Amino acid sequence: MYGFETKNALVTGAGQGIGEATALRLAREGAAVGIFDRNRETASRVVDTIRQSGARAIGLIGDVSDTHEVKSLVEEFERNFGPIDFLVNNAGFDRPGGIFKLAPDDFRAVWEVHFLGTVNFIMACSGSMLVSGKGSIVNVSSIYGKVGCKGESAYVSAKSAMVGLTKSLAREFGTKGIRINAIMPGLTDTPTIRTMMSPAIQDLFIKETPLARMAQPSEIASVIAFLLSDEASYITGSVLEVTGGWGM
Ligand SMILES: NC(=O)c1ccc[n+]([C@@H]2O[C@H](COP(=O)([O-])OP(=O)(O)OC[C@H]3O[C@@H](n4cnc5c(N)ncnc54)[C@H](O)[C@@H]3O)[C@@H](O)[C@H]2O)c1
Repeated sequence: MYGFETKNALVTGAGQGIGEATALRLAREGAAVGIFDRNRETASRVVDTIRQSGARAIGLIGDVSDTHEVKSLVEEFERNFGPIDFLVNNAGFDRPGGIFKLAPDDFRAVWEVHFLGTVNFIMACSGSMLVSGKGSIVNVSSIYGKVGCKGESAYVSAKSAMVGLTKSLAREFGTKGIRINAIMPGLTDTPTIRTMMSPAIQDLFIKETPLARMAQPSEIASVIAFLLSDEASYITGSVLEVTGGWGM
């Protein structure tokens, strides 16, 4: 639909969940996709699935918070496929706990992945985007980054910071051909949600959601693909809520 046959895309946290769905969608649109994840097994599975469909993919195994590793794996991707056109900063994890239970190191660990990981990738990829004068970036925040959440201050503060980063860089990149946007998913049916959130809590969310269900990862991937595409050519610095109406 979007015709990404000439595009090179890199998705972080692409081994499962929203990242996997995004990688599969971009590959289906024709892009060559870098599957960045710290989990070799799940990343290899996604790479195999994409290759079996006839599309192009490479596994990039590393930690988003490791600046040097990110730089060298981005270079590896570009050696294989050429300059990156699309970047999706999606990798993440949760460290729940009230403020009196969390230590500063818990905040550091969460911020290093969500926030510094995003900065690492933008710095590693924006060089070639600036040279080519084109690029599109989507940062995966969370609706919690807008409304907050009791007992989630490490995760939520990092997700809010991703919004400030997105808006500031939209201003810096605006005249350089690079668009950058954020999305705020609501509850999405991924392996982590299935294992970490009890069915009772899932039901509570669903009751408060106008569309009365969780999102499927492919529905989040659709929005990311749209924002990356030229169909969104006049959208930058925006924060799109993809929540079925929860938290509006
Ligand atoms: N699922 C939801 O309900 C939901 C809602 C709002 C926002 N989000 C956000 O969407 C993103 C994806 O969520 P998900 O539910 O698909 O997550 P998930 O836990 O299912 O998958 C996350 C992937 O990121 C990888 N990853 C984690 N830390 C990494 C690191 N340091 N370096 C490299 N890879 C790393 C994991 O190995 C995993 O493959 C996250 O940023 C999450 O905060 C999810």
